[in-house]
Amino acid sequence: MIWLVGANGMLGADIRDGLKSRKIPFFASDINVDITSMQKIDEFISGRAIKWIINCAAYTAVDKAETEPQDAQHLNVKGVKNLAKAAKLTGAKLIQFSTDYVFDGEKKCPYGEEDPVSPTSVYGKTKLAGEVEIRKHLDQYYIIRISWLYGIHGQNFVKTMLRLFDEKTELGIINDQIGGPTYTKQLASNIIKLLKAKEKPYGIYHYSDEGSISWYDFALEIKKIAQENGLLAKDPRINPITTDMYPLPAKRPENSCFNKQKVINLLGFEIKDWKVNLKAYLKEMFQTKNLKK
Ligand SMILES: NC(=O)c1ccc[n+]([C@@H]2O[C@H](COP(=O)([O-])OP(=O)(O)OC[C@H]3O[C@@H](n4cnc5c(N)ncnc54)[C@H](OP(=O)(O)O)[C@@H]3O)[C@@H](O)[C@H]2O)c1
Repeated sequence: MIWLVGANGMLGADIRDGLKSRKIPFFASDINVDITSMQKIDEFISGRAIKWIINCAAYTAVDKAETEPQDAQHLNVKGVKNLAKAAKLTGAKLIQFSTDYVFDGEKKCPYGEEDPVSPTSVYGKTKLAGEVEIRKHLDQYYIIRISWLYGIHGQNFVKTMLRLFDEKTELGIINDQIGGPTYTKQLASNIIKLLKAKEKPYGIYHYSDEGSISWYDFALEIKKIAQENGLLAKDPRINPITTDMYPLPAKRPENSCFNKQKVINLLGFEIKDWKVNLKAYLKEMFQTKNLKK
């Protein structure tokens, strides 16, 4: 049986819905099974035959983590270590999600899985420490590093842009950070495919939608699609700005593009162009009226 941890989060909810719609049985938990408590985990796994643990729970407030490092550490390191121990105990395989923020962004071309890590934020450091715990305790794991997540269930850049387009006549968006957006619904389908596949090589993988773009490029495309669908009352001007012009507590990598050949070749993940996924996402949002929340 599959145990989906963090099932109410942005990514977790799409995996949950994907499993449900494909009628694949699973156990789901969120904050009701606090993964920072080994006792709670032991109680949960006791008597359940768990073959897979998919961990979507994490401390994800990147800027807040700078002033709450213990909270980020608690969940992203201790919580993950507990899950790795639980996987060892039950013989389950663990799927963990990590982040592009394990890199400092100084490399000029896409990051491969073997590139040296050097996180510049508390969040990045704790996610990396979580990876280390898994590798220490377990052989059967998939650590999937992802970037710039957006999905129907959580707060994200796309929803923020749609809200700001309504509120403002002009806005400045960062144009000197390059990365790849990740549509959670597409990632969820790939994860479900992995659960059903014959055993694939364990290890670390990089995944995002296809394409390397800046936040500014992303904002322009969101506006274009929203306009094509008659969803914008205004025509706000979007100006490219530099990171220095929009200071935030956590330092982000300038380049966080991934080389995704490994996840395509070894896990058979399907990767779509970011514009195709963005269009599908906005369609999903318009249909469910889950706009700007
Ligand atoms: N979001 C991004 O842009 C991004 C980018 C790269 C990588 N990632 C990684 O992708 C994964 C999924 O991210 P996400 O944005 O979908 O996360 P999310 O929306 O923040 O969801 C995290 C979930 O974990 C739950 N949770 C919090 N504390 C917990 C605890 N002690 N025990 C059990 N569950 C707990 C949360 O519940 P409450 O809401 O009740 O606290 C929430 O439902 C994470 O590993 C994240 O690091 C995310």
